Amino acid sequence: MSITKESELFGMQRAGEAVAYTLKAMIDHAQPGMSTKELDEFGARILSGFGARSAPHLTYKFPGWTCISVGNEFCHGIPSNTRILKEGDLVNIDVSAELNGFWADNGGSFVLGSDLHQHQPLVDASKDILRNAISNIKGGVKIADIGHLMETEARKHGYKVIKNLGGHGIGRGLHEEPADLLNYKNRFDQRRFKKNSVVAIETFISTSSTFAVELNDGWTMVGNKGGHMAQHEHTIVVTGGEPIILTEINGIS
Ligand code: CO
Ligand code: CO
Repeated sequence: MSITKESELFGMQRAGEAVAYTLKAMIDHAQPGMSTKELDEFGARILSGFGARSAPHLTYKFPGWTCISVGNEFCHGIPSNTRILKEGDLVNIDVSAELNGFWADNGGSFVLGSDLHQHQPLVDASKDILRNAISNIKGGVKIADIGHLMETEARKHGYKVIKNLGGHGIGRGLHEEPADLLNYKNRFDQRRFKKNSVVAIETFISTSSTFAVELNDGWTMVGNKGGHMAQHEHTIVVTGGEPIILTEINGIS
């Protein structure tokens, strides 16, 4: 969406706060021995306390309130009673919701407890890349140039990017134009970021895969060449200078 008046900015700020607070609380609440279903239900209670409704559930009938992906799962993991979190797991939580007609989206990967499997460098690279990308976005900047920056930074750290996942416009729905804010330079993409538009910027940084493929459950995505992926996502308002980060209080970056 494009912000045209104060009340729209206010509405987006409230939606951003609801998803960001929920994501942060879920990351803090996650413990070894807990099922991803339990963690999801904890998040659902927080969202409903804000009066917010799960976006993937509303939009796509996703079988959960938030997406929780663990280990080799890249994203869109379904919360489950049988998926038990373990010390050292690479976990991704993605929380998106609607509040009073405004939609916001955010997500983050983290290592649960001690970093037994050395996932932290991947997580840190993804966070750095998100921060760097956002600080370079303003009205008039080419979308493909931000993709180029993200891929270049990933390579510098020894990682790859997932080619078939991307950020997106957001605001009056979960997924709006501009679609496909990719993590690499698409030389055919002539679009530019527009001042006052609201977009969800997401990293998809991986150790070995370059494509995400869906499992038979119809939701969970894993890598075409395995390995692990870290994702970090903020919803932002593009301005003429530094963007306004609507989900800043999630503390992911
Ligand atoms: Co998103
Ligand atoms: Co998301």
